[in-house]
Amino acid sequence: MHSIDRFFERNPRSKELWERSRKVSRGIQHDARSCEPFPIFTSHCRGSRKWDVDGNEYIDYTMGHGSLLLGHAHPSLVEAVSGQVARGTHYGTECELAVEWAEVITRLIPAAERVEFVMTGTEANMLIAQLARAYTGRWKILKFAEHFFGWCDHLQVGVFPPYERPIAGHLPPIADDTVSGGTVVIPCNDAVALEKALAGEDIAAVFLEGGGAHCGEIGMPPDLWHTARRLTKEYGTLLVIDEVITGFRWSPGGCQALVGVTPDLSSLGKMVSGGLPGAAVCGRADVMDLLQIRAGDPEWNRYRHVVHPGTWNGNPLCAVAGITTLKIAATGEPQRTAEAMARRLVAGLNRQIEKRGIEACAYHTSSAIHLFVGPCQKCDRQLCLDAAKRMPSELILALDRHLLLNGINLLRGTIGWVSAVHTEQDIDQTVDAFGAVLDGLVEEGMAKAA
Ligand SMILES: Cc1ncc(COP(=O)(O)O)c(C=O)c1O
Repeated sequence: MHSIDRFFERNPRSKELWERSRKVSRGIQHDARSCEPFPIFTSHCRGSRKWDVDGNEYIDYTMGHGSLLLGHAHPSLVEAVSGQVARGTHYGTECELAVEWAEVITRLIPAAERVEFVMTGTEANMLIAQLARAYTGRWKILKFAEHFFGWCDHLQVGVFPPYERPIAGHLPPIADDTVSGGTVVIPCNDAVALEKALAGEDIAAVFLEGGGAHCGEIGMPPDLWHTARRLTKEYGTLLVIDEVITGFRWSPGGCQALVGVTPDLSSLGKMVSGGLPGAAVCGRADVMDLLQIRAGDPEWNRYRHVVHPGTWNGNPLCAVAGITTLKIAATGEPQRTAEAMARRLVAGLNRQIEKRGIEACAYHTSSAIHLFVGPCQKCDRQLCLDAAKRMPSELILALDRHLLLNGINLLRGTIGWVSAVHTEQDIDQTVDAFGAVLDGLVEEGMAKAA
């Protein structure tokens, strides 16, 4: 039976919910959750596992889109968050929890002299762009093609090819290097283009995605971090490392602690709030000081101060979740366990691929894993620098569907996050299931065995 028919048979309740949801929405709440013939609807999660409304069990690697290093419903988090709900979720005033949350962050992240809370990674990067512009008096933001910083107008630029063409809702004019809102896009990982663009001395900030584009799907050569740091200093530009995914996951001090490059500003999301909504901007005190409101200085407050309201900033519920998670993450133990499991997983997945002689590979950066089916330049199963590799969307959808049918859930079937609670048994079960996934793809003509 074709996988689409099996999917219908296995998921009648999800299908019902899909049809119901289509009457009031597009049926999914995130582009990356699109699925064919329809998405699964989850009923609950615990540890490394997820159950859908039809009672099917999955080993989960979506892990809150990378926010859950400690797995689903970690007992400490459940206790802390439940206790806080009873004490209030929004005080409308400052609270000690937000102070403690910021203190933990400044202890862990090298760049964090000061912290400002926001609600999402996108918001964090929006605020960083405003701070950088206000600090430098320059307008342009520079980024590598493919690097992703959220979905606001001036950062959701040059993420997918053709890079020079605007996405829906983004209007021309398009100059050679400018697509939207003063964002300059240069080829991925191109150090020469980086220096050339910076030499114009009109760039406020260079944004880099920690770990490389799309969570390391296209990695960064290690020396590029240092080159970017040296060049940004030389040309008076601020260096921003987006640590929305890598923060606290790559290491307790994020990607910056691992590569030894301290940026001027960083965005933190996902793990920073323990899997609840919540994010932060952190960085150099003199830049972050632009957020200060100065008593008796209307000139400063009106013309120099970077405005930052936001109903949910630093609320006690997200703060308590963040503190609880970061204190556990501070030991470095969860990261070590998750990375060791990711290594075991990738080795097993590649064994299955090689056994069948399929043109495909699995690789990982830290505890994030990537699956790619198709031709790609050789990588060392950790760092893949092939920015041109592409999987057709029907292949991504087929891979995702076959994974789900075999009890495995990755985001879009291609990106996964291993947590500290995935066990060797989970990994070995995933590897076995992946053999059946590959056989299914070959059977349906979506992949070719040797
Ligand atoms: C590197 C990176 N930056 C920013 C964002 C945006 O974060 P949010 O989805 O919280 O707005 C994401 C989201 O996945 C991300 O991966």
